[in-house]
Amino acid sequence: MHIRVLGSGAGGGFPQWNCNCDNCRRLRAGEINAKARTQSSIAVSSDGERWVLFNASPDIRFQLEAHPPLQPKQGVRDTGIHAIILIDAQIDHTTGLLILRESVKPLEIYCTDPVYGDLTSGFPVLAMLDHYCKVNRHPVPLDGGAFEIPGIDDLRFYSHALKSKAPPYSPHRNHPHPGDNIGVVVEQISSGRKLYYAPGLGEIEPHVFEAMQAADCLLVDGTFWTDDEMAKVGSAKKAREIGHLPQSAPGGMIEELGKVPTPRKILIHINNTNPILDEDSPERRQLTNAGIEVAYDGMEIDL
Ligand code: MLT
Ligand code: MN
Ligand code: ZN
Repeated sequence: MHIRVLGSGAGGGFPQWNCNCDNCRRLRAGEINAKARTQSSIAVSSDGERWVLFNASPDIRFQLEAHPPLQPKQGVRDTGIHAIILIDAQIDHTTGLLILRESVKPLEIYCTDPVYGDLTSGFPVLAMLDHYCKVNRHPVPLDGGAFEIPGIDDLRFYSHALKSKAPPYSPHRNHPHPGDNIGVVVEQISSGRKLYYAPGLGEIEPHVFEAMQAADCLLVDGTFWTDDEMAKVGSAKKAREIGHLPQSAPGGMIEELGKVPTPRKILIHINNTNPILDEDSPERRQLTNAGIEVAYDGMEIDL
């Protein structure tokens, strides 16, 4: 299985357009050992030709340009993207759908009912696409059940509801419903190898822990180092309140990842305020010592 990290940053990317936090300011000034990051998305393929896109970020145009296998090959208009799985309805994961409107075929979109609801009401991007390329929407299981994608041979997908957060324009923002956010296991049928992907993960419930334990590689929520990290940029929002388990706290992501034997543990969806972006920081060293990697744009994982 080939996995390509298209965008490893959280909403806003790194540096964020209006941000002068230590990380963003130092990156612009060339004073930090850190990589710029676009917004949250990966692509997965078994044969290296037919790809499933996970999330469609506002930065998708640059992300596709940066990964030639996703670019046109056969017809005058073509793409390597055969289907799109949306893990939630947040702006950083869905705005890129608008950029794909020139598609010559309807977009094959796999998402839950709550996500479909948000994307046809509060942020009606799927309804808008009906005026362009159109969309074939496919529901996905909430209970860890399997689904396959026609034309994508040798990959099987399993999706489950998890605790994170619906977007501000969702009626579920303060009334969480199963399916506002999902985690997805991607299994290569021929090898049995498994990826677990959950870029928004507020709590490691038993079924999430089980999926993490059974995986060969994790790409999980790396948004914040501390719960109150957004205070640095004048925001009172807490990581947990907006659906992200911070890394450093007791019961946080580092501690949880310490309990699973998964060979590769990789953080993704890193917010621009997170000190782990500084590759020379003590926080980054702490991750390295714990055997935890940090995803970067263009990262390739072969499972
Ligand atoms: C989040 O992950 O909390 C959101 O995507 C933030 C955003 O993009 O506004
Ligand atoms: Mn996000
Ligand atoms: Zn910043």
